Amino acid sequence: MTRPSLNESTGAKHSRIYALGASRGDLTVTNDDIAGPIESSDEWIRQRTGVITRKRASAGLTVVDMAVEAANEAIAKAGITPDQIDAVLVSTISNPVATPSLAALVAERVGANPAPAYDISAACAGYTYGIAQADSFIRSGLAHYVLVIGAEKLSDFAKPNDRTISFLLGDGAGAAVIGPSDFPGISKTVWGSDGSKWDAVGMDHSWAEYRDGGGDVDWPTLRQEGQTVFRWAVWEMAKVAKRALDEAGVTSDQLAAFIPHQANMRIIDEFAKQLALPDSVAIARDIETTGNTSAASIPLATHRLLEEHPELSGGLALEIGFGAGLVFGAQVVVLP
Ligand SMILES: CC(C)(COP(=O)(O)OP(=O)(O)OC[C@H]1O[C@@H](n2cnc3c(N)ncnc32)[C@H](O)[C@@H]1OP(=O)(O)O)[C@@H](O)C(=O)NCCC(=O)NCCS
Repeated sequence: MTRPSLNESTGAKHSRIYALGASRGDLTVTNDDIAGPIESSDEWIRQRTGVITRKRASAGLTVVDMAVEAANEAIAKAGITPDQIDAVLVSTISNPVATPSLAALVAERVGANPAPAYDISAACAGYTYGIAQADSFIRSGLAHYVLVIGAEKLSDFAKPNDRTISFLLGDGAGAAVIGPSDFPGISKTVWGSDGSKWDAVGMDHSWAEYRDGGGDVDWPTLRQEGQTVFRWAVWEMAKVAKRALDEAGVTSDQLAAFIPHQANMRIIDEFAKQLALPDSVAIARDIETTGNTSAASIPLATHRLLEEHPELSGGLALEIGFGAGLVFGAQVVVLP
């Protein structure tokens, strides 16, 4: 039987980030505000994490509201209209329902309906996973413009008396519009997982345990084995960052910026040392006043860096995300 041939699907040769948008929680929460129930102090939190204040959202500000605000800014700055968006990818671990996705609602609210929309569950690596997918969609011809968002309201999943992670967490959303390019604007992503450390960071118990706990089990919230994650981040992620540079074919002295997931200032400093970053490379340190916003942390940190240093626009940035799974992703991008 002769097989009819299918139409060839071809996309753009390259992709790049056109523009970014940001939305942070409306409240500024100090270390003193949260230190009491965890028997901690402003001094301990500053020294061990670098966080001075964190942004959190008040009760009426939802994760969708923040995602939409960030997305609207990115779409406007990209100079496109929402109906041109062919896919909406929202990386998040704080959707308050298992289904439907945050992305479908965000797509509706920004005016991208009926674009395909779905959530990515890759915790603090989620934004880098989204960028990897957007890049491949555009180059395969599946999409022309893709909206990638990292959005979190982690304060909904933080227990005030948890001393393993709650004091790090913040709320916000960062968005990027990715589209076709006549030069390579996103390098091949280095990504992966290590499920042998599935228990190192995540929810303290399941929805079923909460349901069946007879009132003895609290609402599930985040917890971590801090030292396990810290050691993994410092040793394994520095290697991933170096592999991402190799895949991109650049050296660390050619970077304009280094934008790691904002997990802990000590981890950021250790990366900078291991990558031998020269002083000319700007290092994102948004954790100081935003806290750890998981999937939102890299786009938020990038947005701030570009606001404070507009001269970085057009330069190369190495971004690396890592977290619950454990999962990781890293790529070099041309800054919009
Ligand atoms: C959570 C984290 C800040 C803890 O810092 P740390 O230096 O590893 O702290 P340790 O667990 O070694 O504890 C050191 C001491 O501080 C105490 N401590 C722990 N948490 C504390 C807190 N929240 N406040 C005050 N003291 C605390 C411990 O009891 C311990 O006291 P001891 O020396 O008297 O025994 C750090 O491990 C971290 O950032 N981990 C990685 C986070 C990360 O990347 N997560 C990724 C997912 S987003």
